[in-house]
Amino acid sequence: MLEHLARVDLLDGPTPFQRLKRLEAVTGHRSLWAKRDDVAALGLGGNKLRSLEYWIGEAGRRGADILVVAGAPESNQCRLTAATAAKLGLDCLILHGGDPPAGEVGNLMLNRLLGAGIRFLGPVDEATRGRMAREAAEELAAAGRRPYLIGDPAVGALGYARAAEELVRQARSAGVDLRHVVLPGSMGPTEAGFLYGCALLDLDLTVHLVSVEYGADELATRIAVIVGAVETLAGVPAGDWRRRMRIHMDQLGPGYGRPTPESVAAVRTCAGLEGFFLEHTYTAKTFAGLLRMRGDGTIPADQPACFLHTGGVPALFGQVAADPSLVDPSLVAPP
Ligand SMILES: Cc1ncc(COP(=O)(O)O)c(C=O)c1O
Repeated sequence: MLEHLARVDLLDGPTPFQRLKRLEAVTGHRSLWAKRDDVAALGLGGNKLRSLEYWIGEAGRRGADILVVAGAPESNQCRLTAATAAKLGLDCLILHGGDPPAGEVGNLMLNRLLGAGIRFLGPVDEATRGRMAREAAEELAAAGRRPYLIGDPAVGALGYARAAEELVRQARSAGVDLRHVVLPGSMGPTEAGFLYGCALLDLDLTVHLVSVEYGADELATRIAVIVGAVETLAGVPAGDWRRRMRIHMDQLGPGYGRPTPESVAAVRTCAGLEGFFLEHTYTAKTFAGLLRMRGDGTIPADQPACFLHTGGVPALFGQVAADPSLVDPSLVAPP
Protein backbone atom coordinates (compact mmCIF):
# COMPACT_ATOMS: atom_id res chain seq x y z
CA MET A 1 0.00 0.00 0.00
CA LEU A 2 2.78 2.45 0.90
CA GLU A 3 5.63 0.50 -0.64
CA HIS A 4 7.25 3.56 -2.20
CA LEU A 5 8.10 5.06 1.23
CA ALA A 6 11.35 4.28 3.07
CA ARG A 7 10.85 1.77 5.86
CA VAL A 8 12.98 -0.54 7.97
CA ASP A 9 11.46 -3.74 9.35
CA LEU A 10 11.57 -3.71 13.15
CA LEU A 11 8.60 -5.94 13.97
CA ASP A 12 9.63 -9.25 12.39
CA GLY A 13 6.12 -10.01 11.15
CA PRO A 14 2.56 -9.32 12.33
CA THR A 15 1.77 -8.81 16.02
CA PRO A 16 -0.74 -11.29 17.53
CA PHE A 17 -4.46 -11.02 16.83
CA GLN A 18 -6.08 -12.78 19.78
CA ARG A 19 -9.59 -13.74 20.71
CA LEU A 20 -10.61 -12.65 24.23
CA LYS A 21 -12.82 -15.58 25.13
CA ARG A 22 -13.14 -15.03 28.87
CA LEU A 23 -13.99 -11.39 28.29
CA GLU A 24 -16.59 -12.45 25.76
CA ALA A 25 -18.17 -14.67 28.41
CA VAL A 26 -18.19 -11.89 31.02
CA THR A 27 -19.40 -9.11 28.72
CA GLY A 28 -21.83 -11.14 26.65
CA HIS A 29 -20.08 -10.16 23.44
CA ARG A 30 -19.79 -12.80 20.73
CA SER A 31 -16.57 -11.75 18.99
CA LEU A 32 -14.08 -9.74 21.01
CA TRP A 33 -10.43 -9.49 19.91
CA ALA A 34 -7.17 -7.80 20.80
CA LYS A 35 -4.50 -6.65 18.38
CA ARG A 36 -1.42 -7.06 20.54
CA ASP A 37 0.94 -4.32 19.44
CA ASP A 38 2.34 -4.50 22.96
CA VAL A 39 4.03 -7.74 21.91
CA ALA A 40 7.21 -7.49 19.87
CA ALA A 41 10.72 -8.85 19.98
CA LEU A 42 12.29 -5.40 20.20
CA GLY A 43 12.32 -3.16 23.28
CA LEU A 44 9.18 -4.71 24.88
CA GLY A 45 7.00 -3.56 21.98
CA GLY A 46 4.42 -0.82 21.56
CA ASN A 47 2.79 1.38 18.94
CA LYS A 48 5.84 3.58 18.44
CA LEU A 49 7.76 0.64 16.93
CA ARG A 50 5.51 0.92 13.88
CA SER A 51 6.27 4.63 13.66
CA LEU A 52 9.96 3.92 14.12
CA GLU A 53 9.90 1.65 11.07
CA TYR A 54 9.25 4.75 8.98
CA TRP A 55 11.32 7.19 11.07
CA ILE A 56 14.31 4.87 10.76
CA GLY A 57 13.61 4.48 7.04
CA GLU A 58 13.90 8.25 6.77
CA ALA A 59 16.95 8.36 9.08
CA GLY A 60 18.65 5.75 6.90
CA ARG A 61 17.89 7.70 3.73
CA ARG A 62 19.61 10.70 5.31
CA GLY A 63 22.60 8.65 6.53
CA ALA A 64 21.97 9.36 10.21
CA ASP A 65 24.37 8.04 12.84
CA ILE A 66 22.57 9.29 15.98
CA LEU A 67 18.87 9.42 16.90
CA VAL A 68 17.63 12.33 18.99
CA VAL A 69 14.31 12.00 20.79
CA ALA A 70 12.49 14.08 23.40
CA GLY A 71 9.80 13.07 25.87
CA ALA A 72 8.80 12.62 29.48
CA PRO A 73 10.89 10.21 31.58
CA GLU A 74 8.09 7.65 31.28
CA SER A 75 7.89 8.05 27.48
CA ASN A 76 7.44 4.83 25.54
CA GLN A 77 8.63 6.56 22.38
CA CYS A 78 11.98 7.33 24.04
CA ARG A 79 12.38 3.72 25.22
CA LEU A 80 11.61 2.26 21.80
CA THR A 81 13.90 4.75 20.08
CA ALA A 82 16.72 3.74 22.44
CA ALA A 83 16.02 0.05 21.80
CA THR A 84 15.99 0.57 18.04
CA ALA A 85 19.24 2.53 18.18
CA ALA A 86 20.83 -0.28 20.20
CA LYS A 87 19.63 -2.93 17.75
CA LEU A 88 20.84 -1.01 14.69
CA GLY A 89 24.16 0.14 16.19
CA LEU A 90 23.22 3.83 16.20
CA ASP A 91 23.77 6.28 19.03
CA CYS A 92 20.78 7.73 20.84
CA LEU A 93 20.34 10.98 22.77
CA ILE A 94 17.20 11.33 24.88
CA LEU A 95 16.02 14.70 26.17
CA HIS A 96 13.62 14.44 29.09
CA GLY A 97 11.50 17.26 30.37
CA GLY A 98 11.68 17.63 34.16
CA ASP A 99 14.39 16.79 36.68
CA PRO A 100 15.95 13.40 37.40
CA PRO A 101 13.58 11.46 39.69
CA ALA A 102 14.84 10.01 42.98
CA GLY A 103 14.44 6.41 41.79
CA GLU A 104 14.58 5.20 38.19
CA VAL A 105 11.96 2.61 37.27
CA GLY A 106 10.05 1.63 34.15
CA ASN A 107 11.07 3.23 30.88
CA LEU A 108 13.74 5.47 32.36
CA MET A 109 15.52 2.50 33.91
CA LEU A 110 15.26 0.61 30.62
CA ASN A 111 16.72 3.57 28.71
CA ARG A 112 19.82 3.39 30.93
CA LEU A 113 20.18 -0.33 30.19
CA LEU A 114 19.80 0.36 26.48
CA GLY A 115 22.81 2.67 26.65
CA ALA A 116 21.13 5.91 25.58
CA GLY A 117 22.60 9.28 26.48
CA ILE A 118 20.07 11.02 28.73
CA ARG A 119 19.72 14.74 29.47
CA PHE A 120 17.17 16.32 31.79
CA LEU A 121 15.94 19.72 30.68
CA GLY A 122 14.25 20.85 33.90
CA PRO A 123 10.64 22.08 34.00
CA VAL A 124 9.91 22.94 30.34
CA ASP A 125 6.66 22.81 28.39
CA GLU A 126 6.21 20.61 25.32
CA ALA A 127 7.02 23.39 22.84
CA THR A 128 10.23 24.34 24.64
CA ARG A 129 11.24 20.68 24.86
CA GLY A 130 10.74 20.36 21.11
CA ARG A 131 12.82 23.48 20.44
CA MET A 132 15.59 22.20 22.71
CA ALA A 133 15.58 18.89 20.85
CA ARG A 134 15.99 20.70 17.52
CA GLU A 135 18.85 22.74 19.01
CA ALA A 136 20.53 19.59 20.33
CA ALA A 137 20.34 18.06 16.84
CA GLU A 138 21.84 21.23 15.34
CA GLU A 139 24.69 21.15 17.86
CA LEU A 140 25.40 17.53 17.02
CA ALA A 141 25.44 18.36 13.30
CA ALA A 142 27.80 21.28 13.92
CA ALA A 143 30.09 18.84 15.73
CA GLY A 144 30.20 16.57 12.67
CA ARG A 145 27.52 14.04 13.65
CA ARG A 146 24.54 13.10 11.44
CA PRO A 147 21.52 13.36 13.77
CA TYR A 148 17.95 12.39 12.95
CA LEU A 149 15.26 13.93 15.13
CA ILE A 150 12.58 11.34 15.89
CA GLY A 151 8.98 12.46 15.93
CA ASP A 152 7.67 13.82 12.61
CA PRO A 153 3.97 12.96 13.09
CA ALA A 154 3.16 12.31 9.43
CA VAL A 155 6.11 9.96 8.93
CA GLY A 156 5.25 8.23 12.21
CA ALA A 157 1.58 7.89 11.22
CA LEU A 158 2.49 5.77 8.20
CA GLY A 159 3.14 2.85 10.54
CA TYR A 160 -0.51 2.72 11.51
CA ALA A 161 -1.79 2.92 7.97
CA ARG A 162 0.18 -0.26 7.51
CA ALA A 163 -1.19 -1.66 10.78
CA ALA A 164 -4.76 -1.22 9.51
CA GLU A 165 -3.92 -3.44 6.55
CA GLU A 166 -2.22 -6.03 8.77
CA LEU A 167 -5.15 -6.13 11.19
CA VAL A 168 -7.81 -6.53 8.53
CA ARG A 169 -5.82 -9.27 6.83
CA GLN A 170 -5.55 -11.18 10.12
CA ALA A 171 -9.24 -10.66 10.90
CA ARG A 172 -10.32 -11.89 7.48
CA SER A 173 -8.17 -14.97 7.67
CA ALA A 174 -9.76 -15.73 11.07
CA GLY A 175 -13.18 -15.34 9.42
CA VAL A 176 -13.94 -12.16 11.40
CA ASP A 177 -15.74 -9.22 9.82
CA LEU A 178 -14.42 -6.51 12.18
CA ARG A 179 -16.91 -3.70 12.75
CA HIS A 180 -15.31 -1.79 15.64
CA VAL A 181 -11.72 -0.99 16.58
CA VAL A 182 -10.99 0.81 19.85
CA LEU A 183 -7.73 2.69 20.43
CA PRO A 184 -6.39 5.59 22.51
CA GLY A 185 -6.85 9.16 21.34
CA SER A 186 -3.73 11.13 22.28
CA MET A 187 -1.21 13.14 20.24
CA GLY A 188 -2.69 11.86 16.99
CA PRO A 189 -0.16 10.02 14.77
CA THR A 190 -1.36 6.51 15.61
CA GLU A 191 -5.00 7.48 15.21
CA ALA A 192 -4.44 9.49 12.03
CA GLY A 193 -2.43 6.70 10.42
CA PHE A 194 -5.01 4.10 11.32
CA LEU A 195 -7.89 6.20 9.98
CA TYR A 196 -5.93 6.93 6.83
CA GLY A 197 -5.26 3.22 6.32
CA CYS A 198 -8.92 2.33 6.91
CA ALA A 199 -9.93 4.94 4.33
CA LEU A 200 -7.46 3.71 1.70
CA LEU A 201 -8.73 0.17 2.22
CA ASP A 202 -12.36 1.39 2.26
CA LEU A 203 -13.07 -0.61 5.42
CA ASP A 204 -16.58 -0.77 6.78
CA LEU A 205 -15.80 -0.28 10.46
CA THR A 206 -16.00 2.34 13.20
CA VAL A 207 -12.76 3.57 14.76
CA HIS A 208 -13.45 4.51 18.38
CA LEU A 209 -10.89 6.87 19.88
CA VAL A 210 -10.96 7.04 23.66
CA SER A 211 -9.40 10.38 24.50
CA VAL A 212 -6.69 10.13 27.15
CA GLU A 213 -5.20 13.58 26.72
CA TYR A 214 -7.09 16.33 24.86
CA GLY A 215 -10.60 17.63 24.43
CA ALA A 216 -12.56 16.25 21.48
CA ASP A 217 -12.09 19.31 19.24
CA GLU A 218 -8.35 19.51 19.79
CA LEU A 219 -7.93 15.79 19.20
CA ALA A 220 -9.98 15.97 15.99
CA THR A 221 -7.98 18.97 14.77
CA ARG A 222 -4.66 17.27 15.49
CA ILE A 223 -5.75 14.19 13.59
CA ALA A 224 -6.99 16.21 10.62
CA VAL A 225 -3.67 18.07 10.35
CA ILE A 226 -1.71 14.81 10.44
CA VAL A 227 -3.97 13.04 7.92
CA GLY A 228 -3.47 16.02 5.58
CA ALA A 229 0.31 15.74 5.96
CA VAL A 230 0.19 11.97 5.39
CA GLU A 231 -1.81 12.46 2.19
CA THR A 232 0.89 14.82 0.94
CA LEU A 233 3.72 12.53 1.99
CA ALA A 234 2.20 9.38 0.55
CA GLY A 235 0.79 11.15 -2.49
CA VAL A 236 -2.55 9.38 -2.07
CA PRO A 237 -5.69 11.22 -0.88
CA ALA A 238 -7.74 9.44 1.79
CA GLY A 239 -11.19 10.63 0.71
CA ASP A 240 -13.76 10.82 3.50
CA TRP A 241 -11.64 9.35 6.32
CA ARG A 242 -13.64 11.19 9.03
CA ARG A 243 -16.84 9.19 8.70
CA ARG A 244 -15.38 6.16 10.55
CA MET A 245 -14.11 8.21 13.52
CA ARG A 246 -15.91 8.49 16.90
CA ILE A 247 -14.24 10.33 19.77
CA HIS A 248 -15.18 9.34 23.32
CA MET A 249 -14.48 11.67 26.24
CA ASP A 250 -15.87 9.61 29.11
CA GLN A 251 -12.57 8.06 30.32
CA LEU A 252 -10.24 11.06 30.58
CA GLY A 253 -11.14 11.62 34.24
CA PRO A 254 -8.85 14.13 35.97
CA GLY A 255 -6.53 14.22 32.96
CA TYR A 256 -3.57 12.77 31.07
CA GLY A 257 -1.66 10.13 33.01
CA ARG A 258 -4.05 10.30 35.96
CA PRO A 259 -5.65 6.94 36.86
CA THR A 260 -9.40 6.59 37.31
CA PRO A 261 -11.49 3.95 39.13
CA GLU A 262 -12.39 2.65 35.66
CA SER A 263 -8.72 2.35 34.61
CA VAL A 264 -7.92 0.50 37.86
CA ALA A 265 -10.76 -1.92 37.16
CA ALA A 266 -9.68 -2.34 33.52
CA VAL A 267 -6.10 -3.26 34.47
CA ARG A 268 -7.32 -5.94 36.84
CA THR A 269 -10.03 -7.21 34.50
CA CYS A 270 -7.57 -7.71 31.64
CA ALA A 271 -4.93 -9.29 33.83
CA GLY A 272 -7.40 -11.51 35.68
CA LEU A 273 -9.39 -12.68 32.67
CA GLU A 274 -6.91 -12.66 29.81
CA GLY A 275 -3.47 -12.66 31.42
CA PHE A 276 -2.09 -9.51 29.83
CA PHE A 277 -1.36 -6.07 31.20
CA LEU A 278 -2.51 -2.51 30.65
CA GLU A 279 -1.17 0.75 32.10
CA HIS A 280 -3.09 3.79 33.26
CA THR A 281 -2.05 6.50 30.78
CA TYR A 282 -3.23 4.99 27.48
CA THR A 283 -4.43 1.43 27.39
CA ALA A 284 -6.42 1.00 30.62
CA LYS A 285 -8.59 4.02 29.87
CA THR A 286 -9.07 2.79 26.33
CA PHE A 287 -10.06 -0.64 27.52
CA ALA A 288 -12.41 0.89 30.08
CA GLY A 289 -13.95 2.80 27.18
CA LEU A 290 -14.49 -0.45 25.30
CA LEU A 291 -16.21 -1.98 28.34
CA ARG A 292 -18.45 1.07 28.64
CA MET A 293 -19.32 0.93 24.91
CA ARG A 294 -20.11 -2.74 25.22
CA GLY A 295 -22.26 -2.06 28.29
CA ASP A 296 -24.37 0.70 26.75
CA GLY A 297 -24.76 -0.99 23.37
CA THR A 298 -22.49 1.37 21.38
CA ILE A 299 -20.74 -1.88 20.47
CA PRO A 300 -23.54 -4.43 19.98
CA ALA A 301 -22.93 -8.02 21.09
CA ASP A 302 -23.01 -9.41 17.54
CA GLN A 303 -20.60 -6.94 15.88
CA PRO A 304 -16.96 -8.11 16.01
CA ALA A 305 -14.79 -5.65 17.92
CA CYS A 306 -11.06 -5.30 18.49
CA PHE A 307 -9.09 -3.56 21.22
CA LEU A 308 -5.86 -2.19 19.76
CA HIS A 309 -3.28 -2.62 22.53
CA THR A 310 -0.69 0.07 21.90
CA GLY A 311 1.74 -1.10 24.60
CA GLY A 312 3.37 1.08 27.23
CA VAL A 313 3.23 -1.57 29.95
CA PRO A 314 6.68 -0.71 31.46
CA ALA A 315 5.09 2.52 32.74
CA LEU A 316 2.82 0.44 35.01
CA PHE A 317 5.73 -0.19 37.39
CA GLY A 318 6.28 3.52 38.05
CA GLN A 319 2.54 4.18 38.27
CA VAL A 320 2.04 1.54 40.94
CA ALA A 321 5.21 2.56 42.83
CA ALA A 322 3.81 6.11 42.97
CA ASP A 323 0.35 4.94 44.05
CA PRO A 324 0.09 1.42 45.52
CA SER A 325 -3.69 1.76 45.79
CA LEU A 326 -3.81 1.10 42.04
CA VAL A 327 -3.61 -2.62 42.81
CA ASP A 328 -6.12 -2.53 45.68
CA PRO A 329 -8.73 -5.21 44.83
CA SER A 330 -11.40 -3.35 46.80
CA LEU A 331 -11.44 -0.70 44.06
CA VAL A 332 -12.35 -3.18 41.34
CA ALA A 333 -15.84 -3.06 39.91
CA PRO A 334 -17.08 -5.92 37.73
CA PRO A 335 -17.02 -5.04 34.00
C1 LIG B 1 1.36 3.03 24.79
C2 LIG B 1 0.91 4.20 23.98
N1 LIG B 1 -0.32 4.21 23.48
C3 LIG B 1 -0.79 5.24 22.77
C4 LIG B 1 -0.01 6.36 22.53
C5 LIG B 1 -0.58 7.50 21.75
O1 LIG B 1 -0.07 7.51 20.46
P1 LIG B 1 -0.10 8.84 19.62
O2 LIG B 1 0.94 9.76 20.20
O3 LIG B 1 0.26 8.41 18.25
O4 LIG B 1 -1.47 9.41 19.73
C6 LIG B 1 1.30 6.40 23.03
C7 LIG B 1 2.15 7.57 22.82
O5 LIG B 1 3.27 7.64 23.20
C8 LIG B 1 1.77 5.29 23.76
O6 LIG B 1 3.02 5.28 24.27
